[in-house]
Amino acid sequence: MSRAARAPHAWCRRRLAGHAEVRFEPGLLARLWRRVREAWPAAERVGLVADARVHALWPLPAPPRGLAVLRVDLPPGEAAKRRAVLARVTDALVDLRRDEPVLVLGGGAALDVGGLAAALLRRGLPWVALPSTVVAMADAALGGKVAVNHPRGKNLLGTFHPAARIWADPRLLETLPPREVRAGLAEVYKCARVGDPGLGARLVPPPEPGEPRLAEAIRRALLVKARLVARDPRDHGPRRALNLGHTVGHALEGLLGPRRLRHGEAVAIGMVVAARLAVRRGRLAAAEARRLAADLEALGLPVDLPAAATPEAVLERLAADKKRRPGRGHTFVLPLARGVEIHADVRGAEIRAALKG
Ligand SMILES: NC(=O)c1ccc[n+]([C@@H]2O[C@H](COP(=O)([O-])OP(=O)(O)OC[C@H]3O[C@@H](n4cnc5c(N)ncnc54)[C@H](O)[C@@H]3O)[C@@H](O)[C@H]2O)c1
Repeated sequence: MSRAARAPHAWCRRRLAGHAEVRFEPGLLARLWRRVREAWPAAERVGLVADARVHALWPLPAPPRGLAVLRVDLPPGEAAKRRAVLARVTDALVDLRRDEPVLVLGGGAALDVGGLAAALLRRGLPWVALPSTVVAMADAALGGKVAVNHPRGKNLLGTFHPAARIWADPRLLETLPPREVRAGLAEVYKCARVGDPGLGARLVPPPEPGEPRLAEAIRRALLVKARLVARDPRDHGPRRALNLGHTVGHALEGLLGPRRLRHGEAVAIGMVVAARLAVRRGRLAAAEARRLAADLEALGLPVDLPAAATPEAVLERLAADKKRRPGRGHTFVLPLARGVEIHADVRGAEIRAALKG
């Protein structure tokens, strides 16, 4: 067993210095209240914002005497990222004091809405991310982006409010449906392409929940993200490398919805389109682009546009992208043989050709 797998939380605390305390500990949830007490000794109440499905599978132990838990259940998954749900969460937690944290249990969707509620309450309550999916552990818990969706687009209402603590219990992944695990591996693979080439090889064959290789891959992905976030906390510069696969990915999510296409699946298809663009621009060999697609297929991920998302529909959706300045091209992160490059001048005709394959 590697040193990282033996002492995961120490590894993370050392390597992610400068960020929230990050702990990866199997069984961590059982010791949750002791840690809360240590971090917020004066708290009389805590908020608990939980994906209802996750809380039913992994109920938290009873809190100690003197600590009241104000619990708000969220609808499972993306349905939580709605303004109405945000209003319900803030209503339930509006009396919390600034020294009383909000704990958020669930996948990226729960963390996004719970973190946004914490940001709004008293202009910023501390919050603790208790991530329960691969996506949430490898990506969403770190970096401070919190948001809900708007009918006009994904994550349109949001801000930056980093979690004060990230406490991940990899045992939670044991109940995660295989499709969600695979979707999470897309984000891990993305991080490998962005900043840890050796990590890609560690994903073959795809690691499963319970295998130390999965927790190790998640931590390595998180480390790639941590380095970029430290350099660019507000996402104006190098951190945008993490958007590899997301330009087309977000458009596909908007077109098809989370039931038909999970976030990670959309990102996988988006990475394949970005690789084709890189080939067209002479930045990547065609064989490398084919290898990228083959890697994703080996992880059980989709690589082709779903039939319901025609190239024209994707282009239309891209045209409404919040990140695009009028009159300019689209911004794409292109994968290179090593690392990535950001191109902010990609025009519709080029994208259409890459979408067609
Ligand atoms: N803020 C960020 O930086 C960031 C980064 C990446 C993704 N995201 C967001 O995260 C969301 C996707 O998150 P996700 O992929 O983690 O999925 P999710 O939160 O939508 O959850 C997916 C499904 O898995 C279930 N689930 C979660 N944990 C489980 C467990 N341990 N056992 C059984 N079922 C479980 C949920 O109930 C839900 O049905 C998207 O909205 C995306 O935009 C945000």
